[in-house]
Amino acid sequence: MCGIVGYTGPKEAYPILIKGLKRLEYRGYDSAGIALLNSAGLNIYKKKGKVADLEEFIIGKNTHGNTGIGHTRWATHGEPSDRNAHPHRSAGGKLAMIHNGIIENYNQLKQELLNKGYSLQSDTDTEVLLNFIEEIKNKNQCSLEEAVRIALKRVTGAYVILILDEENPDTILAARKGSPLVIGIGKGEHFLGSDASPMLEYTREVVYVNDYELAIVKPDELILKNLGNETITPFVQKLDMELAAIEKGGYQHFMLKEIHEQPHTLYDCFRGRLDAEAGLITMSGVQQYADELVHAKRIIMVGCGTSWHAALVAEYLFEELCRVPVEVEYASEFRYRNPVIRQGDIVVAISQSGETADTLVAIEKAREQGAIIFGVVNVVGSSISRITHAGAYTHAGPEIGVASTKAYTAQLSVLTMMALNIARMKNTISEENFLHLLKELQQIPEKVSWTLQHNQHIKDMAQKYKNAKDFLYLGRNLNFPTALEGALKLKEISYIHASGYPAGEMKHGPIALVDEHLPVVFIATKDKVHDKIISNMQEIKARKGRLLAVITEGDTATKEICEDTMVVPEADERVAPILNVVPLQLLAYHIGVAKGYDVDKPRNLAKSVTVE
Ligand code: M6R
Repeated sequence: MCGIVGYTGPKEAYPILIKGLKRLEYRGYDSAGIALLNSAGLNIYKKKGKVADLEEFIIGKNTHGNTGIGHTRWATHGEPSDRNAHPHRSAGGKLAMIHNGIIENYNQLKQELLNKGYSLQSDTDTEVLLNFIEEIKNKNQCSLEEAVRIALKRVTGAYVILILDEENPDTILAARKGSPLVIGIGKGEHFLGSDASPMLEYTREVVYVNDYELAIVKPDELILKNLGNETITPFVQKLDMELAAIEKGGYQHFMLKEIHEQPHTLYDCFRGRLDAEAGLITMSGVQQYADELVHAKRIIMVGCGTSWHAALVAEYLFEELCRVPVEVEYASEFRYRNPVIRQGDIVVAISQSGETADTLVAIEKAREQGAIIFGVVNVVGSSISRITHAGAYTHAGPEIGVASTKAYTAQLSVLTMMALNIARMKNTISEENFLHLLKELQQIPEKVSWTLQHNQHIKDMAQKYKNAKDFLYLGRNLNFPTALEGALKLKEISYIHASGYPAGEMKHGPIALVDEHLPVVFIATKDKVHDKIISNMQEIKARKGRLLAVITEGDTATKEICEDTMVVPEADERVAPILNVVPLQLLAYHIGVAKGYDVDKPRNLAKSVTVE
């Protein structure tokens, strides 16, 4: 969480920083701030609210300066307010700092500062760390760089920090552990960001800073060091991201754009991997660890939120197709247990951002105990993609809307291809079944496209249900996770309480909630449990619940018992979760919009959850 941006070079920093912050706003939008250095010193502007509020606040103020840093916050320590917004200024007045992450031992450091007579202006861990650094600098009469190195050895937690110093007006000092930092290399200028989006129109050359590295960034010089003060040669990589991918392209919201992009993103995900005509799946990451994957006694899947739902779908697929036991774990729970991991266990870590703190730590823990880690990640070069042994990118492109949509369907596609690839190597799938599923997968982008044509119908439905207080989502088998995902989307964007449940479990408790006000959304497409689902629907109808369902095209019998339906084309049930979630994404989106909410930036959330 929190987005950070920096610039040093010949240009005016302010417009670059503001534009960069707008692109990083998906990471947090509780407050925003900017620090600019010019010959007169340090100017800091910060404001509670979104970047647009900051921009308005700055109108008419001095924004001159060729070096600057900016921050968009997702609050951890201290409520969202002007006072707690970043950048923070040190007590001595010459340093300004922004921070993404959490300093876990900040209380101890704070106590040390208070004992020395410091008084703090905010409730943040960031201000504590900044003054701790300044205190070391003053006490040891050393450079800022040296003081940062000493201070960070005392710090536990996660951070990316950027510091400006009035005494070195063209320099940004940066350090990272556990939160992402990218440095863009321009001609006589450098850009810094939580991701590469703020620098896209200026450079294609970037360096992904690693944990425990410190960067001294000047217009024409980038020095990278470790905390032991040894110089490291920066590894420069070429950016493979287009500007259009991070713009709305005529859609009202990123979320709607991303929902509609799915036919393309799914096609991109299959490209070069799936060849139904030749009967082939080629996944280099799987090939690299083929032996281990084939002989794995157990696969553990970890993730959070939507990525955890993708893991649940994969559990059904891997068990059925590969005949291997699968355990699905919330990363946030897994890491605090004492999980039994044996040599040769495979851990599949699923993450859109590749930066989720809980998933990162879960992987580290499993790795320490000898597991092989396979990543299913969207953001190229992200932390998770770099600490896994092997993996497969989902190729969904930048996902900016906080509610995950296209990343989810791409995760499902990658996991399905993986299951098929491994099943074939293990001989646990017949040739006929394998070829049939390849064809089914290949047709998915077209079927998603067909489903999206019903957008207006779902928009009309949203008007009808937008005032409901609660929703229930029910599905069976592979569509139980679809029910969970549909409910999560609605909660996130419309702030309506929604529960996802296995349809068969309904009678063991949730049925008590059913009355004439409760919309119950069934995933009722044609599959082997269709009859069971119909019985569950009748049970709801008998209790006057409002029946909504995702149904297969042409299924008039199911349509007749529902108040409203959302239609998808027929598909094999093992690939259907990729398709069935699409109408539920649209339903959540349109209800959120109908209620007047900012669906791209739902309250209290952030896209990339880099704190525990
Ligand atoms: O980036 P990740 O996939 O690791 O993120 C995991 C969750 O934070 C994420 O899926 C979250 O639940 C989304 N907001 C869901 O729409």
